[in-house]
Amino acid sequence: MTSGSRSVPRRGRAEPSNSASTAILLAGAAALGGFLFGYDSSVINGTVDALKQQFHLSSFAVGFVVSSALLGCAAGAWFAGPLSDRIGRVRVMLIASVLFVVSSLGSALAFNAVDLTFWRLVGGLAIGAASVIAPAYIAEIAPAELRGRLGSLQQMAIVLGIFAALVVDYVIATASDGGATGTFPWGGGAWRWMFASAVVPALMYGVIATTIPESPRYLVKKHETARARQVLARVMGRGDVDMKISEIVRSLAGDRPVRLSDLRGRRFGLMPIVWTGILLSVFQQFVGINVIFYYSSSLWQAAGMSEDDAMLTSVINSVVNVVSTLVAIALVDRVGRRPLLLAGAVGMAVTLATLTVCFATAPVVDGDPHLGSVAGPVALVAANVYVFAFAATWGPVVWVMLGEMFNNVIRASALAVAAAAQWIANWMITTTFPGVSGFSLGLAYGIYTLFAILAFLFVVRGVPETRGRELEDMDAIAVPRARTRAPEGRAPA
Ligand code: GLC
Repeated sequence: MTSGSRSVPRRGRAEPSNSASTAILLAGAAALGGFLFGYDSSVINGTVDALKQQFHLSSFAVGFVVSSALLGCAAGAWFAGPLSDRIGRVRVMLIASVLFVVSSLGSALAFNAVDLTFWRLVGGLAIGAASVIAPAYIAEIAPAELRGRLGSLQQMAIVLGIFAALVVDYVIATASDGGATGTFPWGGGAWRWMFASAVVPALMYGVIATTIPESPRYLVKKHETARARQVLARVMGRGDVDMKISEIVRSLAGDRPVRLSDLRGRRFGLMPIVWTGILLSVFQQFVGINVIFYYSSSLWQAAGMSEDDAMLTSVINSVVNVVSTLVAIALVDRVGRRPLLLAGAVGMAVTLATLTVCFATAPVVDGDPHLGSVAGPVALVAANVYVFAFAATWGPVVWVMLGEMFNNVIRASALAVAAAAQWIANWMITTTFPGVSGFSLGLAYGIYTLFAILAFLFVVRGVPETRGRELEDMDAIAVPRARTRAPEGRAPA
């Protein structure tokens, strides 16, 4: 798959089935960034105890090392958008892959906690960049009718990445002579191999990125219309490529590079549609999903499970996460984005409220709530139904929408801002959870319940439906009564 496509059909038309498989292949390649996002952000879970021992860290310090990557993610997301408008989507993928490789090796060879924090920050830059580039690229090469399903591939890749990291951590820990803290048969601490393992997908990502064509919307922006036409011909099937090119040109009108300041709006400092993206991101995190993925093992142990059972529960959560994403892929282009978000918010509010009641009413033994024979199984079922409710709706749908809801001019910058907000929200939840839950687990889940309810109201009031719309028509979806402001020198599309 090169940008100089070998088999461009005449007059820019391709067989529909070929074109759909090309679009799927390209989307899958870009989604590998999502795999690394999931893998790199969760591979550290298995290393936490070993890091505490090796570098003599307190729980607080280890929390700081873990969450430092998330701040790197926010910075990576912030810069990746504008950078990809300047040098192209694919080059940013290549840069991210190099950062992934160096950060994995650096973390694996870290001398001390400061060194490790630095390499995790570098890895965070790559994760953040990948989190912006994959949805943008996928939305830009996908035909409108497949866009939701292809966009969901990003989330599928993220959840597979989380699952793979969990399995690899487990395999390395069992192969060593003393779990993550022990020595791996090939020498060196097992935890170091956990970090090093991420080099494999990182290299694959880089190699694959060299084989995929640039995004046609980016090429048109850079006046490389002939190359854009070739790429579109490969992914559009029967669609009229020339008409698409003129639509893109019209939707881009004005060719000065977009700056973050172009996202400014009259009310509340930013364009309403950008606020919609930011709030979708923030709610996706404030319902507390990553508390399950980052802390579930210790959570279930605190609630009275053995270490093995708690590990197994985390694996089950992760499998539920993967399987439920398939449900979203099947539904997102059929029922639309809004119904899924609404149903997901209801499902999460109910299950989080159940968890709140279970933990708030449990008797406290040695500072931890101990769930009894009724509350225990109820909480376990509620936690898994909660993961289902998230993974079949808000998990993928938010990423799909962030890729598609902004017009061609502001997409990269707006997506960058929304994704950066998501990483900051993720950081806020994951750093405050230990403190809040130490005080009361019921309170922590109560807060997430409240956010699930607010998320529902937000979707009712402020989230437009984007299913089936061409990217070139996205200006028309702005939240009612608030049209997007056209950047200087450009008429609104
Ligand atoms: C979404 C979220 C991410 C979370 C994942 C869990 O991708 O953005 O933060 O870890 O879902 O499946």
